[in-house]
Formats: sequence, structure tokens, C-alpha cells
Amino acid sequence: MSYETLIYEKRKNYALVTLNRPEKLNALNKQLFDDLDSVISIIENSSDIYAMIITGSGEKAFAAGADIKELNASDASTGERFSQYGSKVMERLEKLNIPVIAAVNGFALGGGCELAMSCHIRFASENAKFGQPEVNLGILPGYGGTQRLTRLVGKAVAMELIISGNMINADEAYRLGLINHVYPQSELMQKTEEFVNLILSKAPLAVKASVEAINYIDKNNDLSSGLAFESKLFGKTCGTSDFKEGTIAFLEKRKPNFIGK
Ligand code: COA
Repeated sequence: MSYETLIYEKRKNYALVTLNRPEKLNALNKQLFDDLDSVISIIENSSDIYAMIITGSGEKAFAAGADIKELNASDASTGERFSQYGSKVMERLEKLNIPVIAAVNGFALGGGCELAMSCHIRFASENAKFGQPEVNLGILPGYGGTQRLTRLVGKAVAMELIISGNMINADEAYRLGLINHVYPQSELMQKTEEFVNLILSKAPLAVKASVEAINYIDKNNDLSSGLAFESKLFGKTCGTSDFKEGTIAFLEKRKPNFIGK
């Protein structure tokens, strides 16, 4: 299937999505959200996609934010819907029960930073820059920036970044815990794919259950109900063929052969 604003590739058992408006630094317009929404539906309905990578085309930007030309047409009533639609797509992405990894290859500003934050893991190239510059445009972040950045880096740091609109580089983003790793740009995709291949070598249902259990904290922050949910999923994984295979392979001192059942 081909899309106007992104490239969707199914590679082995994972999906690679490349935001593809390089002439606009991959700015997120309505069509891009429609396209991403459609890709998310494909992934939700596939039984053989076990991970997803999102990156940007070109060497300059992951995504430089919401499309400011489109945004400019918003008023008080349409602005709320503008924010709700992007937020809804990003929430669907975050709720996928396969690992979603952002390979941030340059600017991740505004909606670009928010999109990266709605992924489960973020790897970045050394030239990546992060920020929520919305206050420069007379708005606040509208795709979850105030909520996810605060959860990721804490209230004081999120407050400073959002109310100043300051950009930070990849090293600073790493220091703050906003991203998992920093790589030279020439190695970013290779390192990301290596990580995905590592995930693909694990028991797929166990990986999915782990993602689901960790994501549960966004639904309910209460430890006791989180522990109960984890135990439920743990029981489920104990009923899989891969659990038997994994434990027997350990005892027989051989590599497991997982089948995703
Ligand atoms: N929406 C729409 N178009 C955008 C865009 C955005 N968020 N960000 C960049 N572009 C476009 C520019 O208008 C320009 O298009 P043009 O060649 O038709 O004029 C093209 O992408 C290249 O951007 P340019 O600004 O010339 O690149 P630069 O290297 O000088 O600066 C940035 C890079 C990222 C610092 C700068 O583009 C920028 O500040 N972008 C907006 C970031 C932002 O405020 N995001 C939050 C949006 S809510």
C-alpha cells in the first residue's frame, strides 16, 4: 500500500514507517495523520508484525512539528479538534502492544517531539534536536507535549522546556532521560534495526505482554492493580507453547525456537 506522506514497509516481522515530506522537514499535516492512522490499523490487524520503527526521511528532520501552514487556519473551535485528532492518532500508536521505536534522525520539534514521545523507545542521531517551541507561535503543545514530556523528564524540566520553547541537543535529551540512546547519524538505522532484530529473537507473546503491562501504567497508576494486571498476563504467558519451549530449551542448554503461540 502506498501513501502520500509516508513510506510504509513491512520488513521480515517488523514495520518501518518513514515520514516523507522532507521538503517541509516532515511537518505533520492532516494527510500525514490520516496515513499514520491507516498504518496503525494495518499493524493492529496483523498477526506477524512484532515491532515498529518510525523515522523521518532526509538527514535533517524527524519531524519539525505540526504543519504551521495548516495550523494557521485554526480558530478557537477548530483548534481544539486539530489538537484532538493528532492526539488521538498518537494515543493509538502508544497503545499498540508491540514495541514502537522512534529513530529520531534530526529535528523533533513540537508535534515531532510529541510523536517521538508517543513511541515506546527513542533512539536519536547526534544531530537530533528536541523541543516544544509552540509558545513562539502563540499556542501550547497540543499533541500531548505537556503530559508526556512531564511524565518522561519530570515537572520542573518539562515546565522549563515548554514555557521557554528552548531546543536541546541529543546529549542533553539523553541526560534528561528523554531518549534511550544517541548514535552517529550514519549508524542510527543500523543500531535501531539491530535492536529490533534482538526483540524479534524473543518470544513474541512475551514481548507483547510486557508492552501491554508497562502501558497499563498510563491507564491506572495504582501499584496494586498494576501488579494484579501483570500477574494475569504472566499466567497467560505460562499457558503458551513458547513458554514451554523457552524453559525446556534453557534446561536442555540450547537456543529456543519460538513460534509466537
Ligand atoms: N510546518 C510547516 N512547514 C515547515 C515546518 C512546520 N512545522 N517546519 C519547517 N517547515 C518548512 C519551512 O517553511 C520551509 O519550507 P519552504 O522551503 O517552502 O520555505 C522548509 O520546511 C525548510 O525549513 P526552514 O525553516 O527553511 O529550515 P531551517 O533549517 O532554516 O530551520 C527549523 C529549521 C526546524 C529550525 C525551522 O524550520 C523551524 O523552526 N520550524 C518550525 C518548528 C516549530 O515551530 N514547530 C512547532 C509547530 S507547532
